[in-house]
Amino acid sequence: MHLHIALLASLAALPLFAEDFQGSDHPLEYDHDPIKYSDTQPADAIAALQQKITSGEVKLGWDEKFGYLPAVLDALKVPRSSQMLVFSKTSLQRKHISPDNPRALYFNDDVYIGYVPGAPVMEISAVDPNLGGTFYFLELENVRKPKFVRSADCLSCHGGQRSLGIPGHFVRSVPTDKAGELLTLEEVRDINQCTPVADRWAGWYVTGNSGPHRGNLVGEKDLAHYKEDPFAKANVRDLSSYFDESKHIAKGSDIVALMVLEHQAHMHNYFARLNIEARQMMAAYGHVRYMRSQVNAFLRYLLFTEESPLPVPVSGNPDFVKDFTASAVRDSKGRSLRDFDLKTRMFKYPCSYLIYNPAFDAMAAPIKEVILQKLHDILTGRETDEQFAKIPAGDRKAVLEILLETKKTLPDYWRAPQQK
Ligand code: HEC
Repeated sequence: MHLHIALLASLAALPLFAEDFQGSDHPLEYDHDPIKYSDTQPADAIAALQQKITSGEVKLGWDEKFGYLPAVLDALKVPRSSQMLVFSKTSLQRKHISPDNPRALYFNDDVYIGYVPGAPVMEISAVDPNLGGTFYFLELENVRKPKFVRSADCLSCHGGQRSLGIPGHFVRSVPTDKAGELLTLEEVRDINQCTPVADRWAGWYVTGNSGPHRGNLVGEKDLAHYKEDPFAKANVRDLSSYFDESKHIAKGSDIVALMVLEHQAHMHNYFARLNIEARQMMAAYGHVRYMRSQVNAFLRYLLFTEESPLPVPVSGNPDFVKDFTASAVRDSKGRSLRDFDLKTRMFKYPCSYLIYNPAFDAMAAPIKEVILQKLHDILTGRETDEQFAKIPAGDRKAVLEILLETKKTLPDYWRAPQQK
């Protein structure tokens, strides 16, 4: 097992795309002062749940078929409609993963859950605003008080090479043979909102409607056929011809959930990267003035300026849309940053809903001040940098109005812009 991990970790370390932070996504020393990643007890959704289990306030029920999965999803309020299925043998429990037995992932704004039918552990990643991604496994054995165990093993892949140099989350497109083994390195790529849909989802099942994508392509033949007929495996609703769908707690591998995950995983990495780097800069130099290009890159991502446009409208399982928008904070006109567009772009209003996440507010004060100032300048049209010129005036105005009404922790000058 460890051999496999070492092998895959070296694969994960290949520098495929490093442009994100304009040369500043080198690994950070997060185990040293002032971060101390491994020595710090995380303050995340899993630590909170563990405390309730230990105190007896919460009891995770055991399910004969799915083990702790249903109880964990319920306790963490993770919707089953977020189910996504990956069949490439690219993660920890690779032995158990195949096109016949795909790994399922589920998520909400704060946690990600991995479950492979028949595998010995569930994998969980969470978000600690000060540490970045945190990683746990939970043994799938019926015990009185189940324990989430933090694991350094996870860092061989999640430790920074693929996640902006800090512990974090990632999604990749990996073409595989019929068994789910990686076929060719050349076509492996990281996926985030900037990746064209046509280049996404090799190694994944995908249900829903859209233009061509590489999901549902199992083996060389399918991959070769994609080049001639890119629609052959797009627009799939039912996966029963691929594997026994009753192995999973929900049906399908929702296209919209995948797109949200891809936005979110990378956005969380950005929060953590900026926060960790800023705290290190403060400790070393007493200021964050060297972080200009990082701030710009962060804001371009937050505001979707480089999002790959959708060539045709996308639609998935309406239950996911319903569950995702259930927690929307709306302004007096009924608008929310969680509203989907899905016609030409992912969201109706181009500013990440994660701006409400504790990980945003927890960023070190000096860097948060710079970000909020610049964000305000962009939204009010004062910022003339061409990186942001593409954002239409109507979108800036809408995002500004929504934030003013719904985001409580904004500096005073946002509400009295003339006096600034
Ligand atoms: C061998 C490399 C590898 C190791 C080790 C690994 N993972 Fe992952 N992990 C991946 C890959 C690759 C993905 C992207 C989806 C996929 O291909 O399965 C992923 C995705 C995930 C996700 C989905 C969201 C996210 O955070 O990216 C979770 C949750 C996760 N892993 C948890 C864990 C946990 C917990 C451990 C340790 C107990 C772990 N992983 C160890 C490779 C690894």
